[in-house]
Amino acid sequence: MLRRLDKKQPLNFKFSAKNLAWAKKQILNYPKGRKQSAVIPLLFRAQEQEGWVSKPAIEVVAKMLDMAPVRVFEVASFYFMFHLSPVGSAAHIQVCGTTPCMLRGSDGLIRQCKDKISKRPMEIAHDGKISWEEVECLGACSNAPLVQIGSDYYEDLDEESFAKIVTDLISGRKPVPGSQTKRFSSEPIENLTTLGTKVEEAQNASVELFIDSSIKEKGSKTKRSLVSKKDAPNA
Ligand code: FES
Repeated sequence: MLRRLDKKQPLNFKFSAKNLAWAKKQILNYPKGRKQSAVIPLLFRAQEQEGWVSKPAIEVVAKMLDMAPVRVFEVASFYFMFHLSPVGSAAHIQVCGTTPCMLRGSDGLIRQCKDKISKRPMEIAHDGKISWEEVECLGACSNAPLVQIGSDYYEDLDEESFAKIVTDLISGRKPVPGSQTKRFSSEPIENLTTLGTKVEEAQNASVELFIDSSIKEKGSKTKRSLVSKKDAPNA
């Protein structure tokens, strides 16, 4: 899939004071002479601040890391986690269209995106709130088909459950991530087949379990932030 920088670029990019301090600290995490290794965290912080990665942002990161801008662009254009064009302010839906997800119905999810969001990918709809695109394997094929929205995965989807997620997002609600069929992690949908013993729930990594235990540990404030916070450290 060919990925290019957006045709419309801002004149410049500047890290906020808070993000600049964070970026400088990140660079110190790497050995002397290896600061280029900070390229992914710095690009990601630039994206969290602006919503996408622009050419001026790439140039700023390149300068901070003593890299040629084209080297930073190579990284930004390789990984789908970096948006090279502006995306929806509330949600950018990345639909996995690679073979396992395709065999499990990702074309139906794309149909829903076209019906409910916009005919073409990367077009921002619903007052600038939502956009979508098809991406390559998101690395969770056992829970196919799935989409990524921000840092969250919505798995075991079908057209109906995905349509509800899109409607919720359009209405300003954040749906709970994880398996949409209540499947526990990526365990078999029915009975266990290979492993004879079921993993105890307390040791399993289900999203709902994570949310529940966070509430127990930190009180209801955590639930609110998990459910409604847009994780963008704009400073
Ligand atoms: S093919 Fe969709 S997550 Fe791997």
